Amino acid sequence: MTQRILITSAIPYINGIKHLGNLVGSQLPADLFARYKRARGHQVLFLCATDEHGTPAELAAAKAGKPVAEYCAEMHAVQADIAAGFRLSFDHFGRSSSDQNRALTQHFAGKLADNGLIREVDEQQVFSHADGRFLPDRYIEGTCPNCGYDGARGDQCENCTKQLDPTDLINPRSAVSGSTDLEIRDTRHLYLRQSAMRDQLNAWIDSKTDWPVLTTSIAKKWLNDGDGLQDRGITRDLDWGVPVRKGAQDWPGMDGKVFYVWFDAPIEYIACAQEWQDAGKGSDWESWWRTDKGAGDVTYFQFMGKDNVPFHTLSFPSTILGSGEDWKLVDYIKSFNYLNYDGGQFSTSKGRGIFMDQALEILPADYWRWWLLSHAPESSDTEFTWDAFQQDTNKDLSDVLGNFVSRVTKFCRSKFGEVVPEGGALDPRAQTLLADLQTRLTAYEGHMDRMEVRKAAADLRAIWVLGNEYLQDAQPWAVFKTDPEAAAAIVRLSLNLICLYGHLSQPFIPDAASKMLAAFGQTPGGWPSDVEAAAQTLVPGASFTVPDNLFSKIADEDRDAWKTRFAGTRD
Ligand code: 2FM
Ligand code: ZN
Repeated sequence: MTQRILITSAIPYINGIKHLGNLVGSQLPADLFARYKRARGHQVLFLCATDEHGTPAELAAAKAGKPVAEYCAEMHAVQADIAAGFRLSFDHFGRSSSDQNRALTQHFAGKLADNGLIREVDEQQVFSHADGRFLPDRYIEGTCPNCGYDGARGDQCENCTKQLDPTDLINPRSAVSGSTDLEIRDTRHLYLRQSAMRDQLNAWIDSKTDWPVLTTSIAKKWLNDGDGLQDRGITRDLDWGVPVRKGAQDWPGMDGKVFYVWFDAPIEYIACAQEWQDAGKGSDWESWWRTDKGAGDVTYFQFMGKDNVPFHTLSFPSTILGSGEDWKLVDYIKSFNYLNYDGGQFSTSKGRGIFMDQALEILPADYWRWWLLSHAPESSDTEFTWDAFQQDTNKDLSDVLGNFVSRVTKFCRSKFGEVVPEGGALDPRAQTLLADLQTRLTAYEGHMDRMEVRKAAADLRAIWVLGNEYLQDAQPWAVFKTDPEAAAAIVRLSLNLICLYGHLSQPFIPDAASKMLAAFGQTPGGWPSDVEAAAQTLVPGASFTVPDNLFSKIADEDRDAWKTRFAGTRD
């Protein structure tokens, strides 16, 4: 039965281009899942956006010498372009600074206030004399009171994932200037009474027995850790952001303040559907998001890195539940550990690792997609090394898949021409192959359905390997000498396998998959669940073209040059 599937990926910050660790922790697996579900005939709405508010954007714009709105518009276009380069198949790539998100964020705040879930707090905020401004939480650094990590930020410790307030930090300093000349000043802010939601959140998370352990363990940790579900400030003394209003009305005492970026960013998941409709790409956006308006049959999946889990299991659900309206809550959260880079961490702030634009400069998207997904950091952090990248892609993509496609099509061309030969009946070896493929395909589908990315990649690789082994075993080039009919049957089956592989590989390596299918006049989109039937799809006599080499091997010289090029940090 056709399902309606809503998929969102954590929305990337606007300031700067994301690294491959960000990509594999959210957008790329979300795309894999969206592609797979579409191919299986389901109705998918896959949304992502840029996360544009907050001080990082302000500071990056200042550094670039541009007004922040102009900077964000430019960077959005840059990120959209790179996303397209990686073939991320968003139905819409929105912007958290959109009018739709502004209105919706103000609407949610109004509802939360109406429901008694917002309180006004006179508090003290860190003002930096050297920087001439209030310092937002993440621009104050210091030692984490929970784990002792020295580089903890005022909003969260990236080492232990604890959500923090800046005043929790030991030995605080300005992350903008490094100055310790900080003064605490009085200011009034709005707090979301998350603590009032504890029981509801606990019951909701307890009901999610099928979630990955990584997601529930982080959520439970902060829910039950006493102070994990503290009330959170949702406004800031900043210029750039969604102005604080109660729905359409002014909010007395809140002039000149904006909502905290982590309050409006997840609301953009919803606003993005409205942007999608307003851009003329769809209709009835509320039927994806409001259970009172048709979203009762939607299943909603979120993808994110582990540092984002507390915001998606506690803060955003508090906004949704607290509104008292019938907005859809997430059904499944797939979270990821970190991908490390050659003995250390990928880091945007330090410019360490490979960034998405650089990756595409040196190799087509499929190489990265395959390696990253087949090494997705699911059960633990994983490490990118150039040696592993070269070895794995050369083997899987060139030696196994590329080689199969090239050998089969070229052999056919040389002996039978660029047409599918007729041949005789399939021999027992072929029957065994089909049975093995069917077993693997069923496993592949199961892992894809459960978003077990690495296992799915292993199944797909095994499916490719089976074809190669069959060819190696069946030896059509030798058989041809004595029994051209039998050789033709082997070739016909192998050509059919190329089409099967094209469809099955499409979620992982869409460009190569399209080339494989285009050689036979097909386009991606279907899902051949029945191997036996798929093995007979091509009509004898149908013409094809030998596709260009699908993958080139990564040479040792290139590997070494890239190792050197990416050894330092980016400006
Ligand atoms: O960690 C990040 O990159 C954030 N910009 C993710 C935000 S996801 C959301 F809630 F919108
Ligand atoms: Zn910590």
